[in-house]
Amino acid sequence: MPSEPKDNTASHVLHRRTGVLPYTVLSGEGIYLNLNSGRRIIDGSGGAAVACLGHGRKDIADAIQRQLSSFAYAYSGANLTSHPAEELARLLLEDTYGEGSKAFFCNSGSEATEAALKLALQFWREKGCETRTQIVARRQGYHGNTLSALSVSGIDDRRKDYSSWMSPHVTFVERCFPYRGKATSESDQDYVRRLVEDLDNTFQRIGPQNIAAFIMETVSGTSLGCVPPPRGYLKEIAAVCKKHGIILILDEVRTFVGSRSSLFPSMIDTIQIMCGMGRIGALHAWQLEDFDGPDIQTIGKSLGGGFIPLSAVLVSRKVIEAVSLGSGRFSHSHTFQVSGSRLTVHNPTAKRYELKGPSAGMCCSSCRTGSSGIRKSD
Ligand SMILES: Cc1ncc(COP(=O)(O)O)c(C=O)c1O
Repeated sequence: MPSEPKDNTASHVLHRRTGVLPYTVLSGEGIYLNLNSGRRIIDGSGGAAVACLGHGRKDIADAIQRQLSSFAYAYSGANLTSHPAEELARLLLEDTYGEGSKAFFCNSGSEATEAALKLALQFWREKGCETRTQIVARRQGYHGNTLSALSVSGIDDRRKDYSSWMSPHVTFVERCFPYRGKATSESDQDYVRRLVEDLDNTFQRIGPQNIAAFIMETVSGTSLGCVPPPRGYLKEIAAVCKKHGIILILDEVRTFVGSRSSLFPSMIDTIQIMCGMGRIGALHAWQLEDFDGPDIQTIGKSLGGGFIPLSAVLVSRKVIEAVSLGSGRFSHSHTFQVSGSRLTVHNPTAKRYELKGPSAGMCCSSCRTGSSGIRKSD
């Protein structure tokens, strides 16, 4: 076993804080992580809302190993794909986005945001509408730490060191946060109406002909705590975007519920750990509202369960058609775009737990019992 660094200065890893030496993890099992010190701790948050399937999962490790023994990597730039990639895309899109929609795989939520923004901008170029370059986002929304993702994130603390690099093409509108933002005299409907009018006015002030997309988290995460929108909000927001022809990007990288929710009434008395991918009663959180869905959606974090870095951009037929009828290529790519072994992680997972069912992902109590809220399909 390699010798343990005694303090952070002896570690060659650049950790989050230079003065603090993190605990070393030796192994894990279910919700537990075993530390080098002999302590066993509960991984209560699944890391950054990621490890939703528990630790030490031999079935998943075996599946990855099987795939790794067949080939290492399939490069999309060499016009290669793989069965795991094709199967996962089908699973994520079927019954929701329908025919003609597609998934773009990448590694992190930030990469997914970058790709989603580029797709929205490309959509308008393909349509011959070069003026649509502005993005509208929400205050206190979070979409990632790379420079463009941060540019559309309304978190001052994370932006301030890079303010000169933040895009001037982004306008922020009010967050949806009833606890702080709703007046005592207002009903949920009044509050929704006010936010929707604010968005509509902002669109009109900038000029819809200049706006490519509006981006928001379906359920607010990183910066607001656990805040699902009041019922009707999503549908109304989508309608305003549609009225002005503006692309709606929903960020479901980190979807979760943590308190009483009108949008997700079945979850009212539970504290859920942050996770997307089925945690809140549907595979995609927006499915719980009565509307056709976003034009583009990002997912990540719990998608790979912590076994692999994995995120994706789900793209509706409308956007794909514009690209197909135009240049015929998405002008964006990554080295690790359509791999094989990475995506295999989902096959045993998806087979064992129906992704389409309620609370398909799991964490904590679910990991402990191996059953809570999860429909086993085999
Ligand atoms: C809603 C949301 N979008 C995007 C991201 C960025 O994801 P990543 O850290 O994987 O780049 C996060 C991360 O916390 C997030 O919460």
